[in-house]
Amino acid sequence: MGMYEDVFRASLEDPERFWLRAAEGVDWEVAPSRALDPSAAPFYRWFPDGRLNVCFNAVDRHVEAGRGEQAALIYDSPVTGTRRTYTYARLRDEVAAFAGALTGLGVGHGDRVVIYMPMVPEAAVAMLACARIGAVHSVVFGGFAPPELAVRIDDATPKVVVSASCGIEGKRVIPYKPLLDRAVELAGHKPYKQVILQRPQERAELGPDDLDWADLVAGASPAACVPVAATDPLYILYTSGTTGKPKGVVRDSGGCAVALHWSMAAVYDIGPGETMFTGSDVGWVVGHSYIVYGPLLAGATTVLYEGKPVGTPDAGQFWRVVAEHGVKTMFTAPTAFRAIRKEDPKGTLTAEYDLSGLRYLFLAGERLDPETYHWAAALLDIPVIDHWWQTETGWPIVANPVGIEAAPVKPGSPTRPLPGWDVRVLDPAGQPVEAGVDGAIVVKLPLPPGSLPTLWNDDDRYVASYLSAYDGYYLTGDSGHIDEDGYVYVMGRTDDVINVAGHRLSTGSMEEALAAHPDVAECAVIGVADALKGQVPRGFVVLKAGTGRDPKEVEAELVRLVRERIGAVASLKEVAVVAALPKTRSGKILRKTMRGIADGHDEPIPSTVDDPSVIETLRPLLRRPDHRA
Ligand code: COA
Ligand code: AMP
Repeated sequence: MGMYEDVFRASLEDPERFWLRAAEGVDWEVAPSRALDPSAAPFYRWFPDGRLNVCFNAVDRHVEAGRGEQAALIYDSPVTGTRRTYTYARLRDEVAAFAGALTGLGVGHGDRVVIYMPMVPEAAVAMLACARIGAVHSVVFGGFAPPELAVRIDDATPKVVVSASCGIEGKRVIPYKPLLDRAVELAGHKPYKQVILQRPQERAELGPDDLDWADLVAGASPAACVPVAATDPLYILYTSGTTGKPKGVVRDSGGCAVALHWSMAAVYDIGPGETMFTGSDVGWVVGHSYIVYGPLLAGATTVLYEGKPVGTPDAGQFWRVVAEHGVKTMFTAPTAFRAIRKEDPKGTLTAEYDLSGLRYLFLAGERLDPETYHWAAALLDIPVIDHWWQTETGWPIVANPVGIEAAPVKPGSPTRPLPGWDVRVLDPAGQPVEAGVDGAIVVKLPLPPGSLPTLWNDDDRYVASYLSAYDGYYLTGDSGHIDEDGYVYVMGRTDDVINVAGHRLSTGSMEEALAAHPDVAECAVIGVADALKGQVPRGFVVLKAGTGRDPKEVEAELVRLVRERIGAVASLKEVAVVAALPKTRSGKILRKTMRGIADGHDEPIPSTVDDPSVIETLRPLLRRPDHRA
């Protein structure tokens, strides 16, 4: 029997032993005497009597172990022409100073801090500083517009918001401060203070409730690490659900530290002193887990890259980063590779760099299409590893764990479930399906450490969203199948979530934005296949009778509205005014049928359709190749 099978079986047969052993990779103030506490099931708790500090584990302990002069974080920013290396000792000092500054503002154990920042090292410093004093951070992706930030401020009720004067998007400088001010104006909850990192590209004008990061830190005394319960939240990360209200995924401290530390060696084959480059953003779970916490918990070096895979200034930047910083494992979303391929189809720019140290390319965030897989594998001649996970799970559910045993790759599949994950496929009646048959992908409870214990302040929504569909199972929201060799195939979401350039977005929240327009009677937003971004949203609206408006004008207003309400990241570039939307006789909009037609499938017209002629009228518009690459 292979190594993978042994480890996988051990994790499910005796999770107590498996995870207590994994917990030995972490330094505890009070070591846990047991792994799982099922007493409040389905609210499982990991390491219930353990106490630790995650920042200590990610930073200080490496300094104490003599690795103070090793690079912890390399900031590589082609958009500002900056490279800066933080050794573990420097990182500890900067984190301790900012933690002291937060303490001075009255932030303590359990208080929330919202971080709305571009890809600058201070974003990681702010996250770690919260962890250091037992505060709970909630990072909001910089591409979200003020109303989205306001919703998160209202839900997390932070004492302090940490932001920057601006972000840099390609060649554009985006002032963040006006966005933050607008969000605070919209929010019902008012933070006590806002800390602003002034960037030279565009400084912000500070108001009476704003503090300059540099001034604040200059006057602060360093804060020590505060041990917290393993079950205390480390962070809240909001993610898109079916409705416009995002879900506040909670990550507990002990489970997160143990699982991420374990995954670094087992999945990514990264150990102390080795370098990982994750091309994502600290605003997403990938950034939390594998730009910040994972590599640092392992005592490795992480690259924090501020730029795009293409256009900043060229499609060779990822290769430059790999060569310049000695990257062993790289991780990004397939869309980044599609973008590079579009610019440099033959991958000629790789020849300009020494990529001999690169051992693995990991891809996640959306389905890895076989074409992109083959292109990347042929170009780099290293294992290209698709892996599947979610904000909720915090680390991969299904992957090819090269640190345990590399399995043969089957393009189109992220390989097999990782230890800790008991993945099943069920039919609508909750019965297991045969190998190869599609169904809902679920995970048998309890979920392993590091996955969400609940939603912030909303146990009921946690149960309703994830645990109520199939008793005893976590609903992933993805559908797919498992083949006879145990390989999982993830085919797509079963809900209104779409993945646009690896960014998880809700079509429901876009519909809410469109419906807010005074001339809109009803609307539908669907995600359609896109050669570059995987999926892009398209909107269809019916105007109220007698508005007398020029449809083209309204369409442009609607595109702007979604950008203002959700953010540029929504990428809703196309909205069409139509006479009617196809519906069932009971009035439900046939979004799935619309999506199928738009994607060019031979979509059957459901028998429940109210008026088939509506679909026929819409068909040419849905099929239109439009702006898609
Ligand atoms: N702040 C402000 N605006 C942002 C932003 C941020 N942090 N991030 C994105 N945006 C804006 C972009 O500028 C763009 O605006 P535009 O419509 O005015 O051009 C819009 O949001 C859409 O962004 P994006 O979907 O990223 O498209 P893009 O054309 O700028 O780049 C890719 C496309 C494929 C190059 C890019 O999405 C990418 O590198 N993705 C892969 C990696 C990744 O981050 N995955 C996340 C999870 S792993
Ligand atoms: P997020 O929470 O932003 O990480 O998005 C999670 C969702 O992205 C999953 O539920 C899937 O729909 C999709 N996803 C992530 N990784 C993969 C993958 N490797 N293959 C297919 N879909 C993926």
